Amino acid sequence: MPEVAVYIAHSLDGCIADAEGSIGWLAPYDACDYGYDTFYGRIDALVMGAATYRECRRAAEWPYRGKATMVMTKSGRIDDDGLAVFDDRTAVEIAYDLERAGLRRIWVVGGGGPIRAFLDAGLVRRLTTFVIPVILGSGTPLWKSGTRRWAATLERSVTHANGVVEMVHTVTPAHG
Ligand SMILES: NC(=O)c1ccc[n+]([C@@H]2O[C@H](COP(=O)([O-])OP(=O)(O)OC[C@H]3O[C@@H](n4cnc5c(N)ncnc54)[C@H](OP(=O)(O)O)[C@@H]3O)[C@@H](O)[C@H]2O)c1
Repeated sequence: MPEVAVYIAHSLDGCIADAEGSIGWLAPYDACDYGYDTFYGRIDALVMGAATYRECRRAAEWPYRGKATMVMTKSGRIDDDGLAVFDDRTAVEIAYDLERAGLRRIWVVGGGGPIRAFLDAGLVRRLTTFVIPVILGSGTPLWKSGTRRWAATLERSVTHANGVVEMVHTVTPAHG
C-alpha cells in the first residue's frame, strides 16, 4: 500500500486559503524550521487539486521541480509544459498507479477535495497539521464533507516558538 501523507497548514478557524484564495497570511510564519525539508525529501510524488496547482503556478518558480505531480481535475488538461499530469481518476487509481511506478510516498498537498478523497478511500494513515494562530474569518475550508467517519489519535504535538501548533494524528475508521 502506498504511504500517503497529509501535511498542511490551516488557520485557527480551519481555512487553508483566505477569501482571495491567497496563502500570503502564512508568510509571517515561514521563518520557523518545522522540518519541511526532511518531510519533502522523503516524498516521491505529489497530488493536488486544480486550484492549488493554479495557485502554485503564480510563483516565479514551480516549487516542486523534480517530483512527479498529479493534478486532480474533472476538467482536463490545464497546461502543457510537463510540470504536472492532469488526472480525472479516483484517489485509489492514482495512488496505485504511482506505487506501480515505484513512487510509494505520496504527499496530498491539498486542497480539501483531494485530501478528503484520499482519506475516504482509506489511503491516509497519518495527518500532520499546522494550526496557525490566525482567525481569518472567511476563506477556503480544509475539511469538506466526506463519506466516512474517522477517529483521530494524537501521536505528537509541538508548540513552536511562534505559536504554531504542529499536530500529528493517526486516523482509523470510526463507527457510529
Ligand atoms: N494552507 C496550505 O498549506 C495549503 C495547501 C494546499 C492548498 N492551499 C490553498 O488552497 C486553495 C485551493 O484549495 P481548494 O480546496 O479551493 O481547491 P483544490 O482542491 O486545490 O482544487 C479544487 C479543484 O480540484 C479538482 N478536484 C478536487 N477534488 C477532486 C476530486 N476528488 N476528483 C477530481 N478532481 C478534484 C476540481 O477541479 P476541476 O474543477 O478542474 O474539476 C476542483 O474544482 C489555494 O488557494 C491553495 O493555495 C493551501
